Amino acid sequence: MDAAFWLERWERNQIGFHQEQVNSHLQEFWKALALPDGAPVFVPLCGKSRDLLWLRGQGHPVTGVEISPRATEAFFAENRLTPTVTRRGDFVWAEADGVTLLTGDFFDLTPASLGPVAGVYDRASLIALPPAMRTRYADHLVRLVDPATPLLLVSLDYPEAEMNGPPFPVREEEVRRLYERRRTVSLLYTCDALPENPAFADRGVTRLTEKVYRLGPLSPNGGAS
Ligand SMILES: C[S@@+](CC[C@H](N)C(=O)[O-])C[C@H]1O[C@@H](n2cnc3c(N)ncnc32)[C@H](O)[C@@H]1O
Repeated sequence: MDAAFWLERWERNQIGFHQEQVNSHLQEFWKALALPDGAPVFVPLCGKSRDLLWLRGQGHPVTGVEISPRATEAFFAENRLTPTVTRRGDFVWAEADGVTLLTGDFFDLTPASLGPVAGVYDRASLIALPPAMRTRYADHLVRLVDPATPLLLVSLDYPEAEMNGPPFPVREEEVRRLYERRRTVSLLYTCDALPENPAFADRGVTRLTEKVYRLGPLSPNGGAS
């Protein structure tokens, strides 16, 4: 899925992934990251998610990256925020009330431009990307942050043959393959997500599983810490 695909999705308002409510798994499991008040949080491929504001409400300065200017403009407009906007390098930076959205390509982001990150919240990024890009995405994400930085990951899986993505199914085995060399992968929660996502059933999906993972730092000897 290239940039043009997502820009068009936003232009046509085909954003079935967007949730009007704050994600319930974020609210329940964010504490698993045990971040102190004021710790900066990064939200890759953030859309115009309300989760950004919830994280801000927990006391975190929040930085998101999103390729669609429609999405980032909508985030501020819909939340009645007036951002300060600057252009720096490959990105347009827009900041209001402790939420900074970088409009541009995640893959152009560098650790230096992103700055310090104490925790990452990732919902629906992997499922937005085809398999080859998911490897590139996970590699880039772990390069952007310190090895000690924990991540909360919310992802979906369904029988691959039942639907053409996006959203693509991402199995637990794949999450482990993508991250286990660099993070401990702990499955925190699994649920049947079909009842609250009828659009999947409409497209022929018979089983939809949502999983919440904590990706934590490896201990110095390479094991769980
Ligand atoms: C499935 S949506 C998830 C959005 C958000 N995480 C949420 O929970 O609502 C994926 C988002 O990633 C954005 N996106 C896709 N490729 C991107 C890239 N290379 N860089 C930045 N954003 C990207 C899309 O525009 C879209 O808004």
